Amino acid sequence: MSRESVSAFAPGRVNLIGEHTDYNQGLALPFAISEGVTVHAKATGEERILVRALDRGERDEFALVEPTGAMGWRAYVHGAVAELGQAGHPLVGARLEIGGDLQQGAGLSSSAALEVALCLALLALAGETEVDRIGLAKLCARVESEWVGAHTGTLDQLASLYGTPGMATRIDFQTFDVEPVSLRLEDGWRLVTLDSGERHENAGSAYNERRAECSEVCKLLGIDSLRQASWDALEGIPERLRRRARHVLSENVRVNDTVAALQAGDLPAVGRLLSASHASLRDQYEVSTPAVERTVERLLGAGAAGARIVGGGFGGHVLGLLGPGVRVPEGGREVRPSQGAHLLETRAMER
Ligand code: GLA
Repeated sequence: MSRESVSAFAPGRVNLIGEHTDYNQGLALPFAISEGVTVHAKATGEERILVRALDRGERDEFALVEPTGAMGWRAYVHGAVAELGQAGHPLVGARLEIGGDLQQGAGLSSSAALEVALCLALLALAGETEVDRIGLAKLCARVESEWVGAHTGTLDQLASLYGTPGMATRIDFQTFDVEPVSLRLEDGWRLVTLDSGERHENAGSAYNERRAECSEVCKLLGIDSLRQASWDALEGIPERLRRRARHVLSENVRVNDTVAALQAGDLPAVGRLLSASHASLRDQYEVSTPAVERTVERLLGAGAAGARIVGGGFGGHVLGLLGPGVRVPEGGREVRPSQGAHLLETRAMER
């Protein structure tokens, strides 16, 4: 049954570990944070979408059927409507309001949060309140790649959709097995994010280039994804590509090691794994920048047990694991695993 109005919330994410593994059918261990994007949707009875981005004070309007391409934040809305329609979901004309408290372009998955909140709101307005979360994550990734131009994987969307308070989510991108892993830090341990101050867009960064390099390795080795690559096989490929693949293979191992360390309550080991992940992202995958390095240094200098860049790279936030008694550096913010994407109470929207 379609509704008069609905609201949906989708959180951003921090990836504890497992970076640039999602599009390589690898492993990752993200968690949803408390900040996110909220979409209010009200049915209009007309075959159009009217949308307002509250933080920007901007609007857009387009036909519900077969939307055309658009630029900037509008591309996400056009893309979500188009991909839902193409996947056969019935949609109704709506007036949408996009708001939220998640910083944009800062490596905390503001784009995925926007896509997921838009889709949940549009689906619920048309009467679909039970969603196939894996299918929806894949649909949102198509919005990124077909409508925004960033050829991302599904890490961010799955992290947002599967968020659970106190839990990280271990995701296997080969089988799409999703498993909660307890991340309740106690005895004064905290996870903190610190902004490098550098902004990035995956579509405009070397993100797509890295993805293409991984495909090149697969082509050379005659495999479908780096999940099937062996360490020995990497010896025969050009040096730059070997470094990219080495990062991915070693990062998968670090994800499992981190799960084991968490289960054993060995947080100093988790810290070392975070720093090892960062070193690999910096030296092998080459997605760090001087501003990111300075931010990692600030966290380590403050006494963090480990620190790493999160997300696609080339700027954004750095994650640090702080032990008891270590002071959060200025500007740092504690992050806790929070509830995933969900519908909020139905309520009337302001006109
Ligand atoms: C971005 C992408 C994700 C993932 C990460 C790197 O956040 O959106 O799909 O590839 O980078 O781990």
